[in-house]
This record gives sequence, structure tokens and C-alpha cells, in this order.
Amino acid sequence: MIDPDRTRGWLRRLWPVVAGHRGIFAGALLASLFSLMCGVAVPRVMMAAIDSALTTRVASLETFVIVIALLGVARGGAGFVSRFWIFRVAYAIENDLRVTLYEHLSRLSFSFYDRVQSGQLISRANSDIRTVQMFLTFGPLMSLTLLSFVAALGLMLSISVPLTIVAVLPLPFVGVLGARLGRLTFPISWIVQARMADIATAVEENLSGVRVVRAFSAERDQIGAFSRAARRLQWINVRQAEVQAAHAPVIEAMPRVGMALVLLVGGWLAIEGSLTVGAIVAFTTYVVLLQAPFRMFGFFLMMLQRAAASAMRIYEVLDERPEIVDRPDALDLEDPQGRVQFQNVTFGYGEGPSVLAGFDLDVPAGQTVALVGRTGCGKSTVARLLARFYDVDGGAVRIDGVDVRDLTLASVRAHVGLVPDEPFLFTTSLRDNIAYARPDASHDEVVAAARVAGASEFIEKLPEGYDTVVGERGYDLSGGQRQRISIARSILANPRILILDDATSAIDVHVEEAIHRELERLLAGRTTIVIAHRLSTIALADRVVLLEGGRVVADGTHEELLRDEPRYADVLAHLDDDRAARVEPSAEAVTP
Ligand SMILES: Nc1ncnc2c1ncn2[C@@H]1O[C@H](COP(=O)(O)OP(=O)(O)OP(=O)(O)O)[C@@H](O)[C@H]1O
Ligand SMILES: [Mg+2]
Repeated sequence: MIDPDRTRGWLRRLWPVVAGHRGIFAGALLASLFSLMCGVAVPRVMMAAIDSALTTRVASLETFVIVIALLGVARGGAGFVSRFWIFRVAYAIENDLRVTLYEHLSRLSFSFYDRVQSGQLISRANSDIRTVQMFLTFGPLMSLTLLSFVAALGLMLSISVPLTIVAVLPLPFVGVLGARLGRLTFPISWIVQARMADIATAVEENLSGVRVVRAFSAERDQIGAFSRAARRLQWINVRQAEVQAAHAPVIEAMPRVGMALVLLVGGWLAIEGSLTVGAIVAFTTYVVLLQAPFRMFGFFLMMLQRAAASAMRIYEVLDERPEIVDRPDALDLEDPQGRVQFQNVTFGYGEGPSVLAGFDLDVPAGQTVALVGRTGCGKSTVARLLARFYDVDGGAVRIDGVDVRDLTLASVRAHVGLVPDEPFLFTTSLRDNIAYARPDASHDEVVAAARVAGASEFIEKLPEGYDTVVGERGYDLSGGQRQRISIARSILANPRILILDDATSAIDVHVEEAIHRELERLLAGRTTIVIAHRLSTIALADRVVLLEGGRVVADGTHEELLRDEPRYADVLAHLDDDRAARVEPSAEAVTP
């Protein structure tokens, strides 16, 4: 959609988007040009009417009246067509840009989302696209007013050269004033936008963090911070009004000054007999027409600068290449056994320190392994590498002996199910949430998955059962209930390899046990990696590996490790402290 050649100018790169609508765009411009030309012709006809039908009475008035009326109708009709079409094109372009951006975002790798703020992305998707769209429609219309300027100038010169010179005299002033106004308002309007974004962020955070705000009785502080942001917006808005109030009246007075000049010099020429009354009337209208492009010029420059900045920000995202992509010769992972190997894996996020170094792990198909380690040691990272959310820096991750980088992404993710530590529910029915991976699943399948995940019981107690729509972020449900929905979702997807990343942390120990029993019974032979933060979860595994310093430091059954590995006992002793440590920083981060 967007020209990928980065060396080209921003407008040039936009051309493919516009080109997709060039027929209707050209039609809109032609209609608009026609309408402008009708407008330019009216004063000329008026002049002829006054001079030949009123002053000298050599022609009948009716013809002129009819011609002017027709011109008016034609102008109106063409104006309607041009405006309607130009807006249709504008919204089509806006839509194209939005879909292009969204498609692109859905392909980008996690490393990109680690770097950018989602608020920034939303603003790009909305205001930046709108700004570019506005320029694309306003820009050509501005060029058309320039054309009507040329036409009016030509007509004026054909009537009277000296009077044309008089009419043109105020133009430099209008131009300078218009540009000055644009120069002053451009930075201000920029700040206005930024401050409005601040306010939007403040509102968004307060609404989504409303529980934290209330829990810490921080309403007063929040209101204080919000009203400060609101006052900053008010101040800059008043500044903008001030600048406009100081300039707009002067710019608006200029056509009157022009009219006065035309009347003075034109009247003098008419008294002398070298100019007709009709010409003076026509000129007073043309003076106004002439100034239009000059008055808009500053505004045009402002829009141009803004659109350029917005386009750059959009391109910044569009030029981002997804890091994790299928190799050209990638294979589909079909009906895997489920053996998982990490071989001497080295990995770090972005430019950050390495999280895994020399990490080795071999899980035979069908085994359940518990991954244990202190918080932040890289357990979730292991899960993300297996689902290929990121690629390793060194070494290899293999499924059935094949490097995941040689497999298609879609097939890897179809066979590797990851139940994350923070379940995310969509604002839709519980049924649709569970059937997310397989929207065509039958009701019985959904119920079966929910049963295995220990979710069917509470769902059936809800008045609307599986049709219950969970609220924003699934707040209607408790943490444990959300985790169970999230597990049911992965069960229904039926992956060969299942990773439970602390997926049962909020679930009652007894229920957790029941879930694992059900899982074992239903899908024997599934390779399972459980990332565990409590003994009850660890007990469910055939084998335990201890992760420390980016590698596996102990490997065996729970009893063996407890007996032979002092570090294991140490980690177990601190599991509860670590949990507390995990909860606290995030709670602090949202308090003001
Ligand atoms: N997206 C990311 N970008 C940069 N650094 C990250 C990212 N995710 C995790 N890290 C860092 O990588 C390290 C390992 O994180 P990871 O989430 O794998 O730990 P964990 O063992 O799962 O911890 P926990 O038990 O608390 O879930 C941490 O130091 C963390 O700060
Ligand atoms: Mg984790």
C-alpha cells in the first residue's frame, strides 16, 4: 500500500494509496475546478450586464439574469459533486491507511511491542492517519484556489491593467500575515494536540486503574493531577485564541481595504471615462477572490508540516520489519511426537543482558516437566522461545529434532499451547473466549474443555452460562476463574505440547490437582512444561529442573533434588517471598 522505498519523499511514498482512488479523485478535482470557474465567471457577466443592459441599454437584462442564475446552479451542483467525492476519497484513503497499519501491526514481532508504548500506537492509528487524510484532501483544493486565482487575474487584466495592479497591491500583506499566523499557530496547535493526548492518557489510566486508585484512596491526588493537565490544555487553548484574535481581524479587513482602493482608483478612471461602472463592480468581487489563496497559504503550510510529521510517524511503524518470519523453505510441523530440546541456548531481550546462557533441556515426548527457579530467572522466557515469540541468539530450540526456525510459525503455534501467567479475556461470551482458537468448535467440545479446566462448574452456575459476556478485561470473573477459562482455551486448541506458565497460581490447590488429573486422563502422551511457583504444582510433574543463572543447574525428581541439591531447597524456601516480591512492584508502579 505504501511505497516501501525509504529514500523517497513522504508524499511520493503515499502515492500508491491515492492511486487506488485516482478515478474518483480526478473526478472530484474536475468538478471542483468547474465550480470554481463558474464562480470566477459570475462577476464578469455581472459587469457585462451593468454596462450593456443598465448603463447603455443595448441588450436585454433577462439574458444576463438567466446566465448568472445558471452559473449559480452549475456552481452549486459541481460543488456538491466535488465535495461529496472528495470526502468519499478521503475516508477511503483513511480506511486504507488504517487497515494497512493494523495488518502490519499484526505481523510485527514481540520485540517491537517490547519497545513501543501502546498509547503511542493508538495515537498513530487515529490522529496521524486523520492528519494525513486531511492534507490529502485539502492540498489539492488549495491548488485549485490557486488556479481560480490565475483565472481571475487573467480576466481582470483583460478588463483593466492599472486597476488590476491596484487590486494586487494588498496581496503581499495578506500573504505575509497569513504565513505569520500559520507560523504562530503551528507550534501552538502541536502543543494542544500533545496536551489533549496527556489528558486522554490520564483518563485511560484512571479508568483502567480505578481499583488501585480507590484502594490507595488516591482519588484526590488523581483529580489534582488531572485538573493540572486540564489547566495546561486550557492555557494553551487561550494562547491559540489570542494569536488568532490578533491576526484574523486584520486578515479579514484586507479585502475591504482592497475594495476601497479599487473604488478610489476605479472611480477616478470611470469619471475620466476610461472605465465602466460594471468593471468597478466586477473588480470589487475579484479583489476578494484574489486574496483567498493568500489567506489560506499559512494554513496550508501548517497542514503540510503536520501531515509530513504524521506521515513520518506512520512510516516509522510501517518500515519496521517483523523479525520472526517464516523461512522461504520452512516446513509445516505435522502431527509431532512432542519431543522438546533446548540446545545450548543463549538469549537476551533486545540490547539487554542475556537471560539464558548455555541453557540445555531435553524433554522426551509425553513427559511433564516442572521448571522451577527464582523470580526473573527466565522461566517465562523459556516458554516464549518454545512458542517462537522470539528467536534465540545462539544455540537452538527443537521440536521433534527440527529447529523451530525451520518450521512455519503457524504450525509451531498450532502445536505449542502457551497458557500465560496473565490470562487475557476478550469482551465477548465465555463460549467465544474458550473457542478462541477454534471458533467452529461445537458446544459439547467447549463444555468438555471447560470441564477439564475445572471451569464448567462455575460457568453453569452463572445465569447466562456460556453466553455470559465478560466485562472489559474480564473483571466480572475472579483471577482463578479467568485462569481456568484461559486453560480451557488452550485445551480446546488441543496442542501436542502444552506450557502452563504459572497458569494455576490463583486456583485452589484441590481444583488444581483435579485439573491436572483430568488433563492427564484426557490427553495422555502430551508433552507438558509447568512453570511452578508452589509445591502443589511441582508435585504434579514427573521431573523437575532448576533454573539459575540462565541455565539448568539441577535435574531430577522432586525428592532427588530436595535430597541432593541445597539450591533447590533454598529456592523452595523462598517461593513465597518471591511471590510477594512479584506482586509488590507492579502495585507500586501504578500508584502515583
Ligand atoms: N519483554 C521483555 N523485555 C525485556 N526484558 C524482559 C522482557 N521480559 C522479561 N524480561 C527480563 O528477562 C528476565 C527473565 O524474565 P522472565 O519473565 O522469563 O522471568 P520468570 O522466570 O518467568 O519470572 P517470574 O517467576 O517472575 O514469572 C527478567 O530479568 C526480566 O526483567
Ligand atoms: Mg514468568
